[in-house]
Amino acid sequence: MENLITIKNLFVEYCSDIGAFGKKQVIHAVNGVSLEIKKGEILALAGESGCGKSTLAKAILKLEPIKSGCISFSDCKSQNNKDFRKFAQMVFQNPYASLNPKMKIIDILKEPLEINTDLTKDQILKKVKEKISLVGLNESSLNLYPHEFSGGQRQRIAIARALMLEPEFILADEPVSALDVSIQAQVINLLKELKEKFNLTILLITHDMSVIKYLADRTAVMYLGEIVETGKTEDIFANPLHPYTRALLSAVPDFEKKRKGLTLKGDLPSPSDLPQGCKFHTRCPRVMDKCKTCIPEEIGSFHKVKCFLYE
Ligand SMILES: Nc1ncnc2c1ncn2[C@@H]1O[C@H](COP(=O)(O)OP(=O)(O)O)[C@@H](O)[C@H]1O
Ligand code: SF4
Ligand SMILES: [Mg+2]
Repeated sequence: MENLITIKNLFVEYCSDIGAFGKKQVIHAVNGVSLEIKKGEILALAGESGCGKSTLAKAILKLEPIKSGCISFSDCKSQNNKDFRKFAQMVFQNPYASLNPKMKIIDILKEPLEINTDLTKDQILKKVKEKISLVGLNESSLNLYPHEFSGGQRQRIAIARALMLEPEFILADEPVSALDVSIQAQVINLLKELKEKFNLTILLITHDMSVIKYLADRTAVMYLGEIVETGKTEDIFANPLHPYTRALLSAVPDFEKKRKGLTLKGDLPSPSDLPQGCKFHTRCPRVMDKCKTCIPEEIGSFHKVKCFLYE
């Protein structure tokens, strides 16, 4: 399958002030990520909170400057803002914060078309009606405000907004984790349906391994700003290689028994003071001496892993 997005050796960092002496602290949020997103796939990006998933997402969508490395897009007409917004759109975690409370739904949905296209008012209205019904809401919703909807409905509206410019790529950052568990499945199913209908390519960020198992074609596991394992989702679940992936899976009920003793110990180290050697060594149940000083290379071709156990 052809790559839609290719990321090579990407670094992103934040600078923040600490202390009274104007001392700067550098937060190494993304550390040398190389990753391919293939046309028409749902690629999941997994990893616990704070490991750099959202930063990587923002860098892909040009919402965060990169320090070094490169990201290339195979189908994007040009790198200008309008063309890029037609190519790539985002669905955020919190539909309470991502929809402007002062705007009616109709105006929220019209906005991307008014800014980025030359369509007439009638053409815009037609598309707005089309998209609201695509996400399972009726046209009477258009004259209401965001607060008049439930969380699940708001996320449907956010998805409709992401679809307005008919993008090829959608990045969904924890799209259901702010929603009631009872309605998460509906929103997940909607994403799956839309993906199939429009042959979308989706990068799905989530820390929920059961969502990944259900939805993703391939999975990439991130730890402290690095991708430590990638592969087909079924392979990752059947045969997780990296000790960190195993620990993540041990939190999933079906896998709990099989992988006893692999629960994560200790906290995520600070991304402003990264461990030497393998970044997971401070928490790894299989740690060896060389892990503390040497950095493992990524090995494998379809199922890739970055760990000395497999060299
Ligand atoms: N705007 C920011 N300024 C400074 N630090 C940030 C900023 N955004 C995120 N970080 C830090 O970068 C690291 C990665 O964060 P993030 O990408 O949000 O991880 P995730 O989405 O996996 O939870 C965290 O340590 C976080 O505190
Ligand atoms: S390289 Fe060593 S510390 Fe890192 S995950 Fe593998 S065994 Fe654990
Ligand atoms: Mg995040």
